[in-house]
Amino acid sequence: MNAQILMDTASALVADDKGLLAMDESNSTCNQRFAKLGIPQTEKARRAWRELIVTTPGLGESISGAILYDETIRQQDKNGTPFVKVIIDAGIIPGIKVDTGAKDMAGHPGEKITEGLDGLRDRLAEYSQMGARFAKWRAVIAVGGGIPSRGCIEANAQALARYAALCQEAGLVPIVEPEVLMAGKHTLARCCEVTEECLRTVFNQLCTQRVLLDGMILKPNMVLPGLTCPRQEAVIDVANATVKCLLRAVPAAVPGIAFLSGGQSAELASARLNAMNVRFKSRLPWALAFSFARAIQQPALEIWRGEEANVPAAQHALLHRARCNRAARRGEYTAAMERRSS
Ligand code: G3H
Repeated sequence: MNAQILMDTASALVADDKGLLAMDESNSTCNQRFAKLGIPQTEKARRAWRELIVTTPGLGESISGAILYDETIRQQDKNGTPFVKVIIDAGIIPGIKVDTGAKDMAGHPGEKITEGLDGLRDRLAEYSQMGARFAKWRAVIAVGGGIPSRGCIEANAQALARYAALCQEAGLVPIVEPEVLMAGKHTLARCCEVTEECLRTVFNQLCTQRVLLDGMILKPNMVLPGLTCPRQEAVIDVANATVKCLLRAVPAAVPGIAFLSGGQSAELASARLNAMNVRFKSRLPWALAFSFARAIQQPALEIWRGEEANVPAAQHALLHRARCNRAARRGEYTAAMERRSS
């Protein structure tokens, strides 16, 4: 393990107020999003969508790294240039999702365990050869009556830590993503409690597995009330609860925290990240950044709808969201930015 390379890559992923673009949806998730908009669920359409994203002019001014899926890292643009090269030429670091999905957890109704450790060492070596410099693994934690269980939290935390150790051995920075889901009617206080327990367990396991904290990025959920909770707190309350929770559980050695969006609207995700940086940026040990999929891609996908003629307008929308989130990292995002873009 070359610690310096890992630390340099991790720092580069959160440098210059940029953030990550997650474009690593599995084929089935990508197809589900296409189906809702009447886009064909084919390899050809997925390739065209990913080409639209990676060829967006100016994307590298706001995006530090792009997380790819196994199908995408092997694809090329219409001129035959590998996507990995297109991304690197745009000044963006290529990364790769390496878990193989969250499956029902035996003996734990309603809970999931993320799989993908078998053969991971060999897959990481191959992805590294292809140009990937970081990787991602997502664990999902559902909140509801009697869940999450300790068994689910511990099993997922251990898998995340074993994945992270293998990544660092291969010279790839691990993005460690324990996602407490928004689905449900739980309160913000309950999300805070569950998120803190998960993060503490994950960092215990990361230390047990000898993961270099300076050479990783944490990708957590923001602390939010459940989607169907009757009480939905204001932006500033979400910002305060999220930072308070992270301060209790995330060691200062971690260089960056890049939030997932988790189903929040694009504007709310930007506003909440902005509020955290306005209030806390100068006082935190880690950078507060973004690693959004839906909160960057969705507005552009709704414009594109699979039509070549819509590519320029969709790229404009994608770039706009990337810029809004870079502004949010600086604490300079405003609602007026949304009006100016249209
Ligand atoms: O694993 C999930 C993605 O990387 C983040 O997706 O921003 O749509 O929650 P999201």
